[in-house]
Amino acid sequence: MSYSRILGTGSHLPSRTVTNADLEAIVDTTAAWIQERTGIEKRHLVSDDETCCDLAEAAARKALQAADVQPSDLDLILVATTTPDQFFPSTACLLQQRLGVRGCAAFDLQAVCTGFVYAIGVADKFIRTGSAKRALVVGAETLSRVLNWKDRGTCVLFGDGAGAVVLGAADQPGIISSHLHADGAYKDLLQIPGGIGNGHPEACFMEMKGNEVFRVAVTTLGRIVDETLEANGLAKSDIDWLIPHQANIRIIQATARKLDLPMERVVVTVADHGNTSAASIPLALDQAVRDGRIRRGELLLMEAFGGGFTWGSVLMRY
Ligand code: UT7
Repeated sequence: MSYSRILGTGSHLPSRTVTNADLEAIVDTTAAWIQERTGIEKRHLVSDDETCCDLAEAAARKALQAADVQPSDLDLILVATTTPDQFFPSTACLLQQRLGVRGCAAFDLQAVCTGFVYAIGVADKFIRTGSAKRALVVGAETLSRVLNWKDRGTCVLFGDGAGAVVLGAADQPGIISSHLHADGAYKDLLQIPGGIGNGHPEACFMEMKGNEVFRVAVTTLGRIVDETLEANGLAKSDIDWLIPHQANIRIIQATARKLDLPMERVVVTVADHGNTSAASIPLALDQAVRDGRIRRGELLLMEAFGGGFTWGSVLMRY
């Protein structure tokens, strides 16, 4: 059995930025409230003619280049997204066509903000079992399209973007473990209630009971950290970098405290990106790889929590 490891990373953000002060003009909020309660200062939002697949493609091309892998070398394309361009074909199939390749497996994975962590867990299993040698894993979102711009409790929180990694088979890990969980009993706390299957396509806007989500997120992420360390016989001090889902700086700080990790060892992008759901972790990873903070051989812990609820972690040696 082989392992999987990251060969290259990439990311892409839409060029349009919206500051907290810009939001004061469209919803009953203040720049200070957003900054104090969430840590967010600005976010990138797509323009009218920009799609999730556009973001995914730009991030994917950078990851392929960094990995020195050709699209034709891919056995698997996996896109984690809650905001696909179309109901079908999947964004992964659209991306495959853009990359000019045919035949390899391509599908979307929907686990909301935990999507990228889930997708890495799935792609790792493809590679470990020999079903794939090279996998492109993308987290891409255009959540601005499903926000209610009159709901100050949600619309100030989210942003658009994409991040990608190329995973390749290796003799040594790489991905050491992934721990994936869900509990649908919490379905009503964070949701887009509309859908085709339930006959309510008109209700495709996000609803969140933010305060309750916050409380469950903090305790659940604490538990997933313990689970990951225990399963691998590691101490907190073994972790070099925490790459958390970027929902709220206060949630990130709580997880860092749980790990006794100084904030200098935590990759934080929430101030500049807001919450980009499945894109937030690969965006943060790519930023820290490209600016030289994360180096080969270091131990990285990724963790995420989102609608469903879903939550999970990936432990890897970069
Ligand atoms: O990524 C998936 C998982 N998502 C998350 O993890 C998000 C988790 N939740 C959160 O990050 C936080 O709960 C929020 C940032 C959403 C809200 O922060 P909070 O400290 O929990 O605020 P709150 O919901 O308890 O609301 C406090 C007050 C309320 O006013 P009253 O009732 O005390 O008068 C809200 O109406 O803040 C008010 N408020 C706002 N005020 C100005 C809520 N949103 C805003 C806003 N601007 N945008």
